[in-house]
Amino acid sequence: MNSTTNEAPTAPIQLSRKPSERGSTGGSPDAPGRGKTACIRTFGCQMNVHDSDRMRRMIQDAGYAEVQHYEDADLVILNTCYVRENAVDRVRGHLGELNRLRSEGRVKKVALTGCIGAAEESQSLQKTYNIDLVLGTHNTYELAEFVGLPTMRETYTPELPGTEGEHSAFVTIMTGCNYQCSYCIVPTVRGRMICRPMGSVVEEIENLVAGGTRYVTLLGQTVDAWRYEGKRFCDLLEAVSEVAPRVWFTTSHPSNMEDRTLRAIGERDTIVKRLHLPVQSGSDRMLKVMHRGYKAERYRRKISVFREAAPEGSLSTDIIVGHPGETEVDHQQTLRLVEDCEFDSAYIFKFSPRRGTEAADLPGVVPEAIVQRRFLEVLRGIEQNAFRRNQRKVGNTEEIFIRHGATEDGKAIGETWSGHAVHVDTGAAPGTYVKSTIESAGPHVLYARERAS
Ligand code: 5AD
Ligand code: SF4
Repeated sequence: MNSTTNEAPTAPIQLSRKPSERGSTGGSPDAPGRGKTACIRTFGCQMNVHDSDRMRRMIQDAGYAEVQHYEDADLVILNTCYVRENAVDRVRGHLGELNRLRSEGRVKKVALTGCIGAAEESQSLQKTYNIDLVLGTHNTYELAEFVGLPTMRETYTPELPGTEGEHSAFVTIMTGCNYQCSYCIVPTVRGRMICRPMGSVVEEIENLVAGGTRYVTLLGQTVDAWRYEGKRFCDLLEAVSEVAPRVWFTTSHPSNMEDRTLRAIGERDTIVKRLHLPVQSGSDRMLKVMHRGYKAERYRRKISVFREAAPEGSLSTDIIVGHPGETEVDHQQTLRLVEDCEFDSAYIFKFSPRRGTEAADLPGVVPEAIVQRRFLEVLRGIEQNAFRRNQRKVGNTEEIFIRHGATEDGKAIGETWSGHAVHVDTGAAPGTYVKSTIESAGPHVLYARERAS
C-alpha cells in the first residue's frame, strides 16, 4: 500500500511462484530457451510491473525457467524506471554487478528495457556496460525474437491474464500521456496517449473473473483521461464495476477527474474507496510553471467532492518539492494544502532534473539543504494527518480483502474497502475476505486480528 516516502511507488518485484499453465519451464519441448534460466528485475511503477509480466510470458514461452538471483540466470532483464536521476544510479549499480558476474561466466546475457531503455542515455549505458539488448517501452515485443521466439506483432496493449496471483490482476486501459509536465520524462519515453477500446477491457476482465480473479486494478499514466468512441473514463469504470467483484484504478490527473467519477467511487459497492490524485504543489504559480493545467482551489474542490462521496475513503497524492523556482511562499502553500486535504498518504519526491525535460534547464535551482528541509516539512504534515485519520479507524470492524497470505509471523496483508492497508492476524487465503476489528493504527498501516466467530 501507499507509504509516505521519497521513493517512486515501487511495487514489490513479482516473481511468479505459481507454475504457469504452460509449465514453469514453459514452452514446447523444443522451445529455444529450454534448459536456460532468466531473471527479471523490475524498477518503478505499476506500468513497469505490468510490462515485466508481458516479458515474463515471453521468456516462459521460450522455455526459460525463471530464477530469483542474478548468479543463477543465463539472461537478466532489467526493466527500468527513468522518473528520477537516482533511478539511473541504481540501475548502474546493478549493471556493474552484472558485468562482474558475466566476467565470471555466471550471467550470459543482459537486457535493459523500460523507460531508461527508451531514453537517449541508454546508448552510453549500452557501451559502458556491454549490454546485449536495449529496448524501450514501445518495442518490448522484440524481446521475443531475442529469446528465440518467432517475431511477435505488438498490439498496443496485451491481453494478459492476471499475474500478481490468481486473485489480483492489473489491466492496462491506456498507455502514454498527452500532458507535458515541466519535470516529467514520461511523455518522451512512453509517447502520446493511446486508449484501449472499452469492449476489449471489459472482455479481458470478464475472462479474468471467470478464471478466479477477485481484484482488478485499472492502470495507466492518466486513467481518468481515458476516452473511446464517445465514452469517458467513468463509463468504463462503471462497466468494469459491474463485472469485477473489486476494482481500483491508478493513476489520475486532477484536470480529467470528473465529479461523476468521484461520486461513482462512493456509490458503487465494488469500487475501492481510495483515490490517488497527484497534486504536485499547492502553489498556483508552481502549478503553472509545471504546466499542470489546474489551480490549487480546483484541486481542493475535487477533494471535497470525493470526501463527501466517500467520507470513510482514503486519499493519496504525489508532491514534488524543490522544483526550480520554488520559493518559500510556494512551499508554505503546499504545506497549507497538505493540511487542508488531510491526505491519508503521499509519495513525496525531491525534484530530480531529467535530461530532455523543460525543468532540467530552468533557472532557480533550489539548494539541496533547502529541498531536504522542505521535504521533511511536507513529510511531517502528511504523517501527522495520516496518523490522525488512521486513529479514527481503531475499533471499527471492517471487511478486509487479503492480498498476501500470512508470513511466518502470522501476519497477512489486506485492504479495507476504504483502501487502507491492514496487517491482520489470520490464516485466510489471498483473494478471500475476513471480518476484523482494527486494534491499532500507525501513520502507514492499520493492525487487526480476525474476529473469533
Ligand atoms: N522529479 C521528481 N519527481 C518527479 N515525478 C515525476 N518526474 C519527477 C522529477 N523529475 C514524480 C511526480 C509524479 C510521480 C510518479 O513522480 O510526482 O506524479
Ligand atoms: Fe508525467 Fe504529467 Fe503525464 Fe503525469 S500527467 S505522466 S506527471 S507528463
